[in-house]
Amino acid sequence: MRILTGVQPSGIPHLGNYFGAMRQVCALQEKGESFLFIADYHSLTTSPDPEVLRKNIVNLALDFIACGVDLDKTVFFRQSSVPQVCELSWILSNVTPVGFLERAHSYKDKIAKGFSPNSGLFTYPILMAADILLYGADLVPVGKDQKQHLEITRDIAIKFNNQYGEIFSIPEGYIPDEVAIVPGTDGQKMSKSYDNTIPIFAPEKQLKKSVMNIVTDCKGLEEPKDPDSCNVFALYKLFATPEEVQKMRENYQGGNYGYGHAKLALFEKIWTTFEPMRKRRAELEANLPEVLKMIERNGEKAMEEAEKMMKKVRSAVGLR
Ligand code: ADP
Ligand code: TRP
Repeated sequence: MRILTGVQPSGIPHLGNYFGAMRQVCALQEKGESFLFIADYHSLTTSPDPEVLRKNIVNLALDFIACGVDLDKTVFFRQSSVPQVCELSWILSNVTPVGFLERAHSYKDKIAKGFSPNSGLFTYPILMAADILLYGADLVPVGKDQKQHLEITRDIAIKFNNQYGEIFSIPEGYIPDEVAIVPGTDGQKMSKSYDNTIPIFAPEKQLKKSVMNIVTDCKGLEEPKDPDSCNVFALYKLFATPEEVQKMRENYQGGNYGYGHAKLALFEKIWTTFEPMRKRRAELEANLPEVLKMIERNGEKAMEEAEKMMKKVRSAVGLR
C-alpha cells in the first residue's frame, strides 16, 4: 500500500496540522510505503514573499522530522523537486470539467473572504490530483477540510481512466473521525489563515499566552460548566488519557473549577507532549545542511517514481 500526503509550507505548524496530518503520517509510515512532500508549488497560489517561502520550506522539513518522520521509511521531499507534477497537472486539466473547480469549497470560501483569486488558486485541486496520482497513492491522510479535494482527485482519475485506459489507481482518503477538525482559540477551525492557532513549537511564554487566549463563555469560577461546548476541553481531549478526560469533565460539571484551571492543565499537556520533539528539532537545526541534503536525495527518489508514471501517461494520451 502506498500512502501519500502533502503539506503547504505556509508558516509555523499548529495543533490542527499536528493532529490532522503530522501524527497520521508518522503512524502510517509503519504501515506501508510512505510519501510526504512539502507542497511549495501550492503555496505560490497565495503569493508568499520568496524569502519567507524559503524559510518556511526549511522549517517545515525540520518540524516533520522532529515530529517523527523517518527518512529511512518515508520519501520526504519538496514538491518542486519533481516538476513532472506540473506536466501531469496540465494533462489532467484537459479532462477536468470547470464545474469541478467552481464547486470547490476552499476556493469559494477564499472568494467569500474577499481574496482576489488567481488562476492557480482556481486550478489548485488539479495540481493536488496530480500530486496524488503521479505517485500511485492508495491512501491519502488529510484533515476533513481536504475531503472535497480528494473527491475531485478521484473524479479526475476516473474520467482520465475512462478516456485513456486504466492508468491511475483510485485513492482513498484517510480522515480519522476523532481529530476531524481541531478547533482554534476562537472555536472556528484552527488555521493559520484565521489567526487562531496554537503553535506546537512556540517558546513556553508564547505557548502559554495562546492557550490563555482561548475563548470561553463567561461563567464564574463557582458555576458548573458544560465541557462539551468548551474549546479548552475539546483540545484537552486530544492529549489526555480517558481517565484524565473523565476527571476534567467532572471538574467542569462540579463547579469551583475555572477556565483558568482548565487552560493551565491544557498548557501543561501541550508543553510536555512536545518536549522530546522540541529537543530533536534543535538538534536537527544544528545539522541543517545534512538535513537539507537528505531531503534533496529523497526528491531524486520521488522523481524516479514520477517518471515511471509519466511515461505511461504520455504514452496513453498520445504524447509519445
Ligand atoms: P492551515 O489551515 O493552518 O493553513 P494547512 O491548510 O496548511 O493548514 O493544513 C495542513 C494539513 O493540516 C492538512 O492536511 C489539513 O487538513 C490539516 N489541518 C489543518 N488545520 C486543521 C485543523 N484545524 N484540524 C484538522 N486538521 C487540520
Ligand atoms: N491541499 C493540501 C492542504 O492545503 C496540501 C496538499 C497538496 C496535499 N497536495 C496534496 C495533501 C496531496 C494531500 C495530498 O492541506
